[in-house]
Amino acid sequence: MDTICCIILAAGAGKRMGGDLPKAVTQTREKALIDHLLDAVAPLKPSRTIVVAGHKQEVLKSYLATSASSKGHALEIAIQDQQLGTGHAVKCALPALEGFTGTVLITYADHPLFTGETLKLFTQYHSFKKATLTMLSFKAPPPNGYGKVLRDDKGHILRITEAKDCNPEEALVSEVNSGFYAVDSAFLKPAVEALTNNNAQGEYYLTDIVEKACKEGQTVAAFPLADATEAAGVNTPYELSLVNDVLAQRHIKRLQREGVSFVDPKSCFLDPSVTIAPGAQVGPNVQLRGSTTIGSGVIIEGTAIIKDATIAENVIIKLGCHVESSTIAREASVGPFAHVRPGSKIGEQCRIGNFVETKNATLHDGAKASHLTYLGDCIVGQNTNIGAGTITCNYDGYNKAQTTIGKDVFIGSNSALVAPITVGDRALIAAGSVITRDVPAEALGLGRARQENKENWAKERRRGLEKGRK
Ligand code: UD1
Ligand code: CA
Repeated sequence: MDTICCIILAAGAGKRMGGDLPKAVTQTREKALIDHLLDAVAPLKPSRTIVVAGHKQEVLKSYLATSASSKGHALEIAIQDQQLGTGHAVKCALPALEGFTGTVLITYADHPLFTGETLKLFTQYHSFKKATLTMLSFKAPPPNGYGKVLRDDKGHILRITEAKDCNPEEALVSEVNSGFYAVDSAFLKPAVEALTNNNAQGEYYLTDIVEKACKEGQTVAAFPLADATEAAGVNTPYELSLVNDVLAQRHIKRLQREGVSFVDPKSCFLDPSVTIAPGAQVGPNVQLRGSTTIGSGVIIEGTAIIKDATIAENVIIKLGCHVESSTIAREASVGPFAHVRPGSKIGEQCRIGNFVETKNATLHDGAKASHLTYLGDCIVGQNTNIGAGTITCNYDGYNKAQTTIGKDVFIGSNSALVAPITVGDRALIAAGSVITRDVPAEALGLGRARQENKENWAKERRRGLEKGRK
């Protein structure tokens, strides 16, 4: 393949984005618009990458100085002080192009969806065709604001005409210009120098070099883009949201190709930094946020929010769970309807059942809290069973206090453990207890009113009431 130099046009103000920043630093859900371009051209290994900066150039320059996507590029910044058109922008890049011979790939910073594969195919097509100029074209139903690719009766390219300069017949043409070109450097330099601004917008149109090449009898080709969504530009917050939708779908598609199953991908939302191992299954209506990682074999049944959490292999998250800033070890089961709050460490094969809330709680392997429980600021030992309705009373209105429960403990249902408190290994807490003092290992903790049975009391009451009725 020919030596490539890449020019990225990024001087535009992007007024319609509504902000005051250079448009190129606008963030998509993944990174800045210009980072998408830098990453897409990286596989072509350009010998130089020239970014044309203009509006708020200092902001763009300092962004590029630190952006990870700039690394590996021999980056040069060219300045276009006044935005006089795409042709003028390329003209401003010519000094930085000095001494280069080969293919110049011209791109826009505000077109973040082109993939590296597409741009590679595009430049390969340009070499195979031995073209002087190849444009990347695609089909867009009229009416649209794109430049039209005009051809003669035999299908030979004649020129590109901007939407604003079209006659009514030209306006119906559906083959349009993406704005990306591969151009032989020897042709580009004089062609750009010769541009004029005699058109509807009074701008120096880069597109005019197409007509010039055709008139000179140079080989001009158009590479038809297979997937027109790649050509989407970002001019408004609405277009940015469309681009973000595509990026989100691509994230899920990538995971599906790697072996992650989604029952209803359209109903799921994943932040870009989320990773999921092959073999996991994600049900409908699931949000995976922040730095969440999901292990292989995990099943997320559906309707869940999982944020900044680490879920190990073969965990099952049943319907309706909220998990945040927590870790869940392998083969644990959570939910349905569980709330795993920040600082929870759920051990291997633990069971967190329905209507159980944990917060800053460490449950060692095999511990179980199957129903209706609050475990806050506590440690629960291995294989301990927490009965239904157990509450760690960790807050007195001023301070939080710790509950420590040993291993193989049995906490009877509906117990209140008033922290700070320690329950030793293999102890047993009687159901319905309010425990306010430490319970030693192996002991029974019993903290409730003693039961009294009154013989025949109910029978006599019934008799008395039935007599009164007669
Ligand atoms: C351009 C093409 C049009 C094509 C369309 C695809 C021209 C004359 N027209 O139109 O055929 O269908 O892109 O999106 O080229 N820029 C500068 N400096 C300038 C002007 C623009 O750096 O003086 C940058 C912008 O920041 C932007 C890119 O070039 O990233 C495209 O400019 P824009 O004004 O959006 O071009 P269009 O009018 O949409
Ligand atoms: Ca545009």
